[in-house]
Amino acid sequence: MALGLLCLSLVLLGALQTQAQDSTPNLIPAPPLLRVPLQPDFQDELFQGKWYVVGLAGNAFNKEDNSQFNMYATTYELNDDSSYNVTSTLLRIQRCDHWITTFLPSFQPGQFNLGNIERYPGIQSYTVQVVATDYNQVAMIFFKKAYKNQEFFMVTLYGRTKELTQELKENFITFAKALGLTDDHIIFPIPNDECIYK
Ligand SMILES: *[C@@H]1O[C@H](CO)[C@@H](O)[C@H](O)[C@H]1NC(C)=O
Repeated sequence: MALGLLCLSLVLLGALQTQAQDSTPNLIPAPPLLRVPLQPDFQDELFQGKWYVVGLAGNAFNKEDNSQFNMYATTYELNDDSSYNVTSTLLRIQRCDHWITTFLPSFQPGQFNLGNIERYPGIQSYTVQVVATDYNQVAMIFFKKAYKNQEFFMVTLYGRTKELTQELKENFITFAKALGLTDDHIIFPIPNDECIYK
């Protein structure tokens, strides 16, 4: 569990600890949530299931440091209270790390807050917003967290399959740049077949 939480803070939250320390002075400011699109009429049941993280971009990411970043998968399971159990699995050779979190519904459908936030030392707030999805092929998700008085943000490109078209990737790059990020902040993780959780 401790390892799982570590992975969570390292990977899911988009802030490699060393980078957080090193890049502190020049973090690109996180956009206000109101400026980030929200999928209209979000259907939480249809969004369930497994998504591959095909692309990642964030103000604490650096493409060069993460050139060997392995793909991971995230599975959303809806509870009766409209929260999600969110299980992420790093796909890598010999070992499968997985970690579980809860996303609690927030103000509008498609907006969530991290559950049990007190379990994650240093995290003051953590919000999730579904930017756009067609439910059966692709999704873009915006994550923002306040951690030790700094704001980190990240957008992920989810695919129901490990590969997405160049057009969908370009669309993701355009969106990341509209939020102030640059090519250096955008990563396309390496697909890896060695470890697949069903
Ligand atoms: C979510 O996780 C809780 C706690 O582990 C579990 O009791 C519940 O059954 C899970 N919900 C789903 C839909 O799998």
